Amino acid sequence: MLRAISLADAYKYTAKPNPVVGALILKDEIIISEGAHERFGENHAEINAIEAANKQFGKSFESFADLILICTLEPCNHSGKTGPCTKAIIDSGIKRVIIGSEDPNPIVAGKGIDKLIENGINVEVGLCKNLVERQNKFFFFKHKNKRPYLTAKIASSADGKSHKKDGSSTWITCEESRQDVQRVRAKYDAILTGGNTVRDDNPRMNARVNFEVNQPKKILLSNKHDLKKTGNNFFKDTEVQVITETNLKKIISSFQDSEYCSILIEAGPKLVNAFLLNDLIDELIIYQSQDLLGLNGVDWFKKDNTIENLGFKLESSYKIKTDTKYIYKKC
Ligand SMILES: NC(=O)c1ccc[n+]([C@@H]2O[C@H](COP(=O)([O-])OP(=O)(O)OC[C@H]3O[C@@H](n4cnc5c(N)ncnc54)[C@H](OP(=O)(O)O)[C@@H]3O)[C@@H](O)[C@H]2O)c1
Repeated sequence: MLRAISLADAYKYTAKPNPVVGALILKDEIIISEGAHERFGENHAEINAIEAANKQFGKSFESFADLILICTLEPCNHSGKTGPCTKAIIDSGIKRVIIGSEDPNPIVAGKGIDKLIENGINVEVGLCKNLVERQNKFFFFKHKNKRPYLTAKIASSADGKSHKKDGSSTWITCEESRQDVQRVRAKYDAILTGGNTVRDDNPRMNARVNFEVNQPKKILLSNKHDLKKTGNNFFKDTEVQVITETNLKKIISSFQDSEYCSILIEAGPKLVNAFLLNDLIDELIIYQSQDLLGLNGVDWFKKDNTIENLGFKLESSYKIKTDTKYIYKKC
């Protein structure tokens, strides 16, 4: 199972918003084939492992009866972007399947396991379950809480400011922190910002990384109808969902039926504080520089709105060149 988990891990930037899944097939305790869900919309891990075994041995499916399939997540029993994995497993003739965790997605949850058992397959569930859940933290969170995991990422001066009052643009943090932000973006299913940030900064907000990534979708909260697509960097790269609703709780609960399991919020103090005060943020990432913005700076937080008062606990902090990155989680 640990091998299957590590196979899955290699595709965490391309399988999203799907969970990462790894699978392998054993004969007499020796691995004869491996597979992973490599890209969103492509074959699931179990199918890739079965196809790899077929290619390798050129045998008919009937000869699979003495093989064991190990997969990190419950095989699906429905036709989505690909056919049901349970059918491929049953057709292969495999008679024993070991599963890391039941799939929390209500479309699958338990139905894949039931289908295998109904077809005379010996099924074991729960091997390394905690690791599989941790590996797919956003996916399990979404189905448990019926909304995506929300992280707010902010850059702050040493004196707690977000940007200059006079509107003149400046980088708050160092080049290395900004590179780190690119890798953080690559992990999320969507990036969300507000109208003022798009107006003031014209940001692109894609993940500019040197590895393959299924780019995060973009979400813009704005009800002024003045932001045009032409010449606006935010509208490049991928589709943008423009939301004119301003009730944040309503917006986030509407994502229950979306593909998003995780959203990274990159906005200014107005929107970030509105999310915090609505108790919607699960994680807060702060990149803090050593420089001061002084009286010309806009505060991130009002004095009594400290991060700790808002119910966050520091999980980790480390230096990135001249800056410090802090990761806070909701208690
Ligand atoms: N330091 C950093 O990490 C960082 C990051 C991003 C931005 N910034 C800076 O932040 C500045 C903009 O910040 P900001 O605080 O003025 O704006 P903001 O937080 O980026 O966006 C606020 C806008 O979001 C929209 N919105 C929709 N629903 C809302 C709600 N419930 N509550 C609040 N806003 C809602 C509105 O857009 P409409 O008015 O279009 O309807 C509102 O004007 C920029 O100058 C930028 O440079 C800094």
